[in-house]
Amino acid sequence: MKKLLFVFGTRPEAIKLAPVILAAKKDPRFCVKVLVTGQHRLMLDQVLNLFNIVPDYDLNLMKSNQSLNDIVSGVIQGVDTILKREAFDYVLVQGDTSTAMAGALSAFHHKVPVAHIEAGLRTNNLHSPFPEEMNRQVITRLATIHFVPTESGRLNLLAENVQPGIIQVTGNTVIDALLIVQKTIKEQQDIYKSLKERFSFIDPERKMVLVTGHRRENFGENFKNICLALKKIADTFPDVQLVYPVHLNPQVRKPALEILSGVNSVHLLEPQEYLPFVFLMMNSYLIISDSGGIQEEAPSLGKPVLVTRNNTERSEAVKAGTVRLVGASAENIFNETKELLENLKVYQKMATTENPYGDGTASGRILSALH
Ligand code: UD1
Ligand code: UDP
Repeated sequence: MKKLLFVFGTRPEAIKLAPVILAAKKDPRFCVKVLVTGQHRLMLDQVLNLFNIVPDYDLNLMKSNQSLNDIVSGVIQGVDTILKREAFDYVLVQGDTSTAMAGALSAFHHKVPVAHIEAGLRTNNLHSPFPEEMNRQVITRLATIHFVPTESGRLNLLAENVQPGIIQVTGNTVIDALLIVQKTIKEQQDIYKSLKERFSFIDPERKMVLVTGHRRENFGENFKNICLALKKIADTFPDVQLVYPVHLNPQVRKPALEILSGVNSVHLLEPQEYLPFVFLMMNSYLIISDSGGIQEEAPSLGKPVLVTRNNTERSEAVKAGTVRLVGASAENIFNETKELLENLKVYQKMATTENPYGDGTASGRILSALH
C-alpha cells in the first residue's frame, strides 16, 4: 500500500485535487492523508464541504492581506512538523501556488518524493503570473513525477531537461471535478431547483456576463480599468446583466466595490461555492476573467472567455478558440465584449465545446502511475 500526503491550501487546488483524493480514498492500493495549509480559509472550506473532504491536518495559516513570505515560511515549517512525525511514499502538490511550492520544498528537504499535478505550464515570464511562474518552475526542479495536462506541458518539461520517463500526460483534473458537479446539477432536480431559486435575480431572457478576477499583476491600476470597463458595459447595454462573485482578497474587493456597487444590472456577489459557480458558468453568455481554472473549464461548457491578462499558459484554450487575451485596458475589454455581444458569427466561433484539457479521467491516470 502506498501512503500519499496531499498538501494544498487554496480554492483552485482543492477543486483540482478533490477528484484525485476521492478516487485514492476508494482505492485499496493507497492510504491517503490530507494536509491543508489554510492559505485560503473560507474559499478552501467551501470546496472541502462540497466534496466531503475532512483534512487530517490543518495548518490554518491564513491572515488578512498576508504576504507571500508569510505563506511560504508558514507552509515550509508546518509541513516539516508533519513530515518529522510520519513517513509518506509521496507528497502530492497541485499547480503553482505558494502552498504548492513551499509544500514541495519542505517534502524535498525530507527526501520524500514529490508528485506534481498540473505540471509543465509555462509563460516563461517570472513576473507574469507573479509569483506563480516561479513557483511552478521551482516545483519542476524538485519533483520526482510530473503529471502534465497536455502534450505542450510535456514538451515544455523536455525542453528543461526533465527525463521523459517521469512525465505523464493525464489531462487536467479540473475536468474530472467539473463533470462530477455538472452531473449533479443536471441530474438532481432538487439541487437544480434550489440553484434556480438562489439566482432568481438573474433574468433568463437577458444575456449574462460572468466576471471574476484576482491576479496579483492586476492589482492597482489594472483592476480599476477592468472595473471601469465593466461599468461601461453595464451602462451601454441595459439588456445585459453582469454577475461578479468578488474574490476575498482586499486588493480586489476595494476597487470592485468602490466602482461597481449600486451600478444598474451589476450583481456583486460573495465568492460562490463550486457547485453554484458551475451553474453560473452554464447560464452565462460569456465570461470575463483572469482565472487559470476558468480558462480550462470554459471549453467544456462552450463559453467564450475574455482573459484580462497579456499572456497565458493555457495556449490550448486560445488555439481551441474559446479564450481570447484582452489585457487590462478598459477600452479593449469594452470593445471585445461589445463584439461578442453584437456579432453572433464571432460569438459562435468562440463558443466551441471541444476541450483540449481532457475528458474527466485524469485522476485515474495519476493514481495508476503512482502505484
Ligand atoms: C492565491 C494564489 C493564486 C491562486 C489564487 C486562487 C499564491 C501566491 N496565490 O491568490 O496562485 O490563483 O489563490 O484564488 O499562492 N482571503 C480571505 N479568505 C479566503 C481567501 C482569501 O479572506 O478564503 C483574503 C485574505 O485577506 C488573504 C488574501 O485574500 O490574505 C490573499 O490570499 P492569498 O492566498 O495570499 O492570495 P490570492 O490572491 O488568493
Ligand atoms: N470558482 C468558484 N467560485 C467562484 C469563482 C471561481 O468555485 O466564485 C472556481 C472556478 O470554477 C475554478 C476555480 O474556482 O474552478 C478557479 O479559482 P481561481 O480563479 O480563484 O484561481 P486560479 O484558477 O486562477 O488559480
